[in-house]
Amino acid sequence: MKKSRRVLVVGGGGREHALAWKLARDGAEVLVAPGNAGTAAVAENVAVAADDIPALIEVARSRDVDLTVVGPEIPLVAGIVDAFTAAGLRIFGPTAKAAQLEGSKLFCKQILHRGDVPTAMFREFRSAATARRYLEEREDMPVVVKADGLAGGKGVFVCHDRATALDAVATLADDPQFSAAAQGILVEERLDGIEVSVMAITDGRTIVTLPPLQDHKAAYDGDTGPNTGGMGAYCPALFVDDAMLAEIEARILVPTVHAMRRAKVPFLGILYGGLMLTSQGPKVLEFNARFGDPECQALLVRLESSLLDLLDAATDRRLDTVEPPVWKDGASVAVVMASEGYPGAVAKGRPIRGLEAAAAHEGVEVFHAATRAGETGVVTDGGRVLAVTAIAESLAKAKLRAYTGVREIRWPGGWCRKDIADKGLHRERELLAAEAVAPAEPVAPAEPVAPGGEAP
Ligand code: AMP
Ligand code: GLY
Repeated sequence: MKKSRRVLVVGGGGREHALAWKLARDGAEVLVAPGNAGTAAVAENVAVAADDIPALIEVARSRDVDLTVVGPEIPLVAGIVDAFTAAGLRIFGPTAKAAQLEGSKLFCKQILHRGDVPTAMFREFRSAATARRYLEEREDMPVVVKADGLAGGKGVFVCHDRATALDAVATLADDPQFSAAAQGILVEERLDGIEVSVMAITDGRTIVTLPPLQDHKAAYDGDTGPNTGGMGAYCPALFVDDAMLAEIEARILVPTVHAMRRAKVPFLGILYGGLMLTSQGPKVLEFNARFGDPECQALLVRLESSLLDLLDAATDRRLDTVEPPVWKDGASVAVVMASEGYPGAVAKGRPIRGLEAAAAHEGVEVFHAATRAGETGVVTDGGRVLAVTAIAESLAKAKLRAYTGVREIRWPGGWCRKDIADKGLHRERELLAAEAVAPAEPVAPAEPVAPGGEAP
């Protein structure tokens, strides 16, 4: 019998639960560091933090791990892939230099420029004073102010006018949480359109583009409230049809992978494009160097074929030799359930009820994010607690199933957005209406009727 493969997943969120769940279904024996209460059910949790690189190397060595898969960006930017590779260990993900595509917005812009990839126009500043002067001198218009470095999604300010942009620059300059990230400041043209997430697996040469998704970054229904890590996602995002996906691959993903290689920082891992579909076509808002969360959860429930085979092939730089992945028909929806107070400070340790009842519904998978095993059951352990994910033959049914699961689960203060996937359902209705109006066959123009004659 073939020896089962041992895989280490680094991280402890919903994305990592989905990765561990899928890799276990693919036949791997999975370890997760540090994991959560959900990963403990499909894998073995190892009590090592996701950024403790020496301890992770020790786990990989002592447990004979054959492949390590990294979930979050922080260990990637800190050089986990370089360290594992130097230790002779197989690992899937970009090197520290390549992860700068996410870790430095300025580096990302330089690569986009080299690859001639469409993105927002921007200016770069090395001090708050020069950014301020620029904003004061230019026309008053909407801009986006961004810290160059990693800021846990908090370093981006979409500003309606000069006054809010000046406030954003002041926040970046004065708030100590941005002192490292805001060494550089970008002021960017604000793009309008629909936002989608398109991810690809790449070995630095070949890319496999994955189905498009839509995330919901704002905290509350109707895309209102503060920005979050993502309150829900659905797949596929119907705004991106096959032709548009081909365009995104050809004009954005492939040129980025090539530009990275030409810059001598080949990118191996998940290339995640946060894109705006503008009236001038798709443009890059940002790149991430990893799976999105909760996009990963909504994506992986649809993956019929082996994820392990894809990750293995990319790690060995032979992605050109694998069969394309097979996706389940229909759609998926992931609804994030969050703690009271999220995205601000949250209470932890609240007992969660109804997890089994939710998972018992057809098509529903409950991926844990911030949970841990308490004395009498699973308790909350942070802001984004669960991603209740469902698959079905249609988007409407996947949404219904996901919220049926959500309704089973409760803890004091737990909440979620109620409108995840509604933009997709609206789009679906638009497309159906357009189909109903459009004639199935081209109709020949009516014959001109001769005066006094009869129409044929
Ligand atoms: P980022 O981390 O760069 O993706 O920015 C976080 C969020 O800010 C994005 O998901 C967008 O919703 C928004 N955003 C970023 N850049 C722009 C831009 N140039 N125009 C409009 N919205 C933007
Ligand atoms: N859901 C967005 C992200 O993972 O960055």
